[in-house]
Amino acid sequence: MPPLIDFGKGQPSLSLLPTEALRTAGSHFLAQQNPRWLRYGDDQGETPFLSALADFLTRRYAMPVSASQLMTTAGNSQALDLCCTLFTKPGDTIFVEAPTYFLALDIFRDHGLRVVGIPIDHEGMQIDALRDALATHQPALLYTIPSFQNPTGITLSAARRERLLAACAAHDVLVVADEVYQLLDFGTPPPPSLAMYASDARVLSLGSFSKICAPGLRLGWIHGAPALLERIMQAGLVQSGGGLNPFTSGVVHSLIILGMADRVLDDLKLVYAERSRVLCAALRDAIPEARFVEPSGGYFVWMQLPGVSAVELLPVAREARVAFHAGARFATGDQFGDTVRLSFAHYDSDMLRDGVQRLARAQRTFLS
Ligand SMILES: Cc1ncc(COP(=O)(O)O)c(C=O)c1O
Repeated sequence: MPPLIDFGKGQPSLSLLPTEALRTAGSHFLAQQNPRWLRYGDDQGETPFLSALADFLTRRYAMPVSASQLMTTAGNSQALDLCCTLFTKPGDTIFVEAPTYFLALDIFRDHGLRVVGIPIDHEGMQIDALRDALATHQPALLYTIPSFQNPTGITLSAARRERLLAACAAHDVLVVADEVYQLLDFGTPPPPSLAMYASDARVLSLGSFSKICAPGLRLGWIHGAPALLERIMQAGLVQSGGGLNPFTSGVVHSLIILGMADRVLDDLKLVYAERSRVLCAALRDAIPEARFVEPSGGYFVWMQLPGVSAVELLPVAREARVAFHAGARFATGDQFGDTVRLSFAHYDSDMLRDGVQRLARAQRTFLS
């Protein structure tokens, strides 16, 4: 039986993980024999890492980022969990995009939160719908994935970024922007990170090395106003365990100052752009009735199969040795039943084409 091709895997293939760059960075880091990276970390993160990260982001955003606006985390999942701990209590309502990242929904469930989905279109969250929802709810926070969204690949337009921030500011709602794909464009950068729009506003942008280097690093950052970061640093987690992930931030500090973080990211962008192109071309060819927008960054294609129940298609697809995530997994209500999320990050071009052939076969079997 051929191995399963699982388009559900939202993680890079092992061959894309930068073992060589991290060997060099790790050797550079360890050769310093600097015990500071082995202490309990500073609450905000280690100063040399935050400075190097600020330089990296200033370069990649082409806009100035100051180390005082950054705090080290162990990745966006942890940062999101921390935001829920600090800024919500069980029973609170929060707003998300509909659809949204399914595992964020699990984090919100862990915190006993009531989730209200705000519809999106090709420009991201619909601001009129957001305003209507704000008229009837007082959410503890709004969670958005503004660039190359998971699962849709959609990017919130610059105009809507401003309107979203204005609407939330008017109701004093904290905006938590999960920007894990912000730097993963295929040639045309998205509008700036939400943290760049209003430096003193109630906005926290969560960034991560998971998608731009390697998820096993468990390293990321929060970008926001120093007063908000100060509040996060008071978390029991930080006070008890010290700043988050100092050892890994030492390795990534070396990676950045040796110029290799830029190289790793630039290489990944080229690979993902090609994989996205291959997947979309194969889908257009093999499943012409499928509806999707070709992404311009990120990891995913969000594909509607008119007349097909994705949940019912899944076992048929598995028989054909292919899998995906059904759209319902990303829904806050009873939506997206005919839609699937396909990731192109995990497989090379040949496997992507093979997977699409299997999917097309499964769909024909399902409809026959
Ligand atoms: C939108 C989104 N947020 C967060 C994560 C996980 O981020 P991290 O590895 O930094 O915890 C993912 C990974 O798929 C994601 O798609």
